[in-house]
Amino acid sequence: MKVISNSPEATEEIGFKIGKKLKAGDIVRLYGELGAGKTTLVKGIARAFGIDRRDITSASFTIIAEYPVNPPFFHIDLYRTSAGADLDNTGIWDCIGPHSVCVIEWAEHAEDELPVDSLRVTINDMGGDQREIGIEGRDEKDWDYL
Ligand SMILES: Nc1ncnc2c1ncn2[C@@H]1O[C@H](COP(=O)(O)OP(=O)(O)OP(=O)(O)O)[C@@H](O)[C@H]1O
Ligand SMILES: [Mg+2]
Repeated sequence: MKVISNSPEATEEIGFKIGKKLKAGDIVRLYGELGAGKTTLVKGIARAFGIDRRDITSASFTIIAEYPVNPPFFHIDLYRTSAGADLDNTGIWDCIGPHSVCVIEWAEHAEDELPVDSLRVTINDMGGDQREIGIEGRDEKDWDYL
């Protein structure tokens, strides 16, 4: 399904609604160009797990930020890894699993290695503050009300 956001706040709210539907074991793959709004969406997703939105930042060097909530929440940003590179020494495989929630920016850099059964969210900059947000995977109909 697709929704249109007209502001950063609206994108965050969509993230919050997505977050409310996530459970342990879920992986969210985020796609979209630089500045599309991926981190903005993550702030909303994280808020659904009780994480302060201000604690979600654009990582400068960190690839993984871990939040000790229940279930454990991982914000992973693969921007600085190159597509197809060996991700074994990034530690991301220690984060992904049945007991955690992982949200991954620049998921295309790990494309074939991530479990197929994950939610894909694509943000397209339509100009100005408008963003088209596409959500696919895991029970498509569940997202219709967003
Ligand atoms: N509708 C919107 N949704 C989200 N962000 C928006 C929107 N309109 C404008 N913006 C602006 O676009 C920028 C999005 O930045 P953000 O860090 O979330 O992008 P990103 O996709 O994570 O970028 P990066 O690839 O660098 O990590 C912010 O400056 C935000 O204020
Ligand atoms: Mg970002």
